[in-house]
Order: sequence, then C-alpha cells, then structure tokens
Amino acid sequence: MRKNIVAGNWKMNKTLQEGLALATELNESLAGVTPNCDVVIGTPFIHLASVAAAIDTNKIAVAAQNIADKDSGAFTGEVSAAMVKSTGASYVILGHSERREYYGETSETLNKKVTLALANGLTPIYCCGESLEIRNANTQNDFVKNQLDETIFNLSADDFSKLAIAYEPIWAIGTGVTASTAQAQDMLQFIRSIIAAKFGADIAQNTSILYGGSCNAKNAAELFSQPDIDGGLIGGASLKAADFKAIIDAF
Ligand code: PGA
Repeated sequence: MRKNIVAGNWKMNKTLQEGLALATELNESLAGVTPNCDVVIGTPFIHLASVAAAIDTNKIAVAAQNIADKDSGAFTGEVSAAMVKSTGASYVILGHSERREYYGETSETLNKKVTLALANGLTPIYCCGESLEIRNANTQNDFVKNQLDETIFNLSADDFSKLAIAYEPIWAIGTGVTASTAQAQDMLQFIRSIIAAKFGADIAQNTSILYGGSCNAKNAAELFSQPDIDGGLIGGASLKAADFKAIIDAF
C-alpha cells in the first residue's frame, strides 16, 4: 500500500538516555496531531525496546537499522529479525550504503536479510543509490537497476508489495549536497517504471519510494511535492525533534 513515510535514521548516534529524550520529545510534539505521513524512527538496537515502550507506536513506528542474515544460533554479536520484532519495532532499514561500504554487505546477504525481515513481520526500507563516480559517468540508472535486480526483484510479488524503497545517492548522504528535485524525481520515476516492468503497474503504483540524502526542513516540501517521491529517509535532520517534526509537517 503506497503511503507517505518520513523515516529517521539515527545511525550510531545518541546514548540510550539521549535517544529516549529525543523519542519522547518527538512523541510529545505529535500529541493531538495526525501527521499526513507514517512516521518512523530508526534507532540503534539497544534503544529499540525502551523507545518503543516510551512512545505511541501507533503514531511513531520504530525501526532497526540492520538485522542478521541468520535466523538464530551461534553468531556472536548479531541481532535477529525475530529479536527486533520482539522489541515492538515494526520496520528495518536494510542495504544502507554505509553498511554496504563499511561492513561488506552484498546482494547475497541482503537477500537473506530481506527474506528474514519479511518472514518475521518487519517492513524493510530497502536502500539503493549510486556513488559520485557513477553519477558523473551518467550510469546511475543501470547501477540502481542492478542493485534491485540482484536483491528485492527476486522476491515474489506478494513479498515485494510489503516493502518500501529508499533511493539515497551516496554523494548526497551527510554532505549537505541534496540531489536536485529533478534528479530525485527522475530516479524515483525510473525506479517505479522498472517495478512496473517487473511486477506490473498496480504494484508499482502502490510501492512507497523515499528519497534520502541531506533531506531537511528547508528542502523537504519541494521534494515531497514530486509525483514519485513518497517521503524521506532522514539522517542528520532526524537527530533533533524540532527539525524532524518540520520535515513531517512538510507533507
Ligand atoms: P543524511 O543521511 O540525511 O544525513 O544525508 C541520510 C541517510 O543516510 O539515511
């Protein structure tokens, strides 16, 4: 079901106490308000259970930023999809470029993670996006298509229709350089067109596709006004309740 979504990605920021304070402040700022979008906050693993207990999860959904590519067992330091689900979280960010680049996530591991997330009732926000080098060579469409072909395009139509996609050009993440509205719209339209070719027009029209990469209170309204941009995955600007609330209000 196509929804507008504003999702925060806290990355590796905030102690538990700081995270609880941020989540509580955001929760209070949304009291008595019905946002025109689904609101999600992606916290570190150790925050999930406490944050989920401290907020109205009917209004603010909680996301993990990763899960293990295994079900359970002797995998020291890993956190499974079932564990994440048991905290009260309902989403998981998967395939973020930082995990692909710094932690060696491949299409193969991501296929397993997406499957485990769906099997455990978590909604994946599946990230894709190209480097500056690829953008400069003007091969970004092929690159992103390949990322999707190797991973979520292998899913059944039924499973595919349960996830959301975030397009995050690596050159725009945390840099303050946002993709222009036209660049973001063009890519999201392209992604929707290849979903239509693969799964049909209905599923394409019902898939939520987000833009991420230096999205903030100033540029959100223009980005979200585009026909194929269904919201944002927000890093830096999700770390202050007022900034994040202003992005929610952009819808
Ligand atoms: P940013 O991060 O908003 O700080 O650019 C976005 C992301 O990586 O999800």
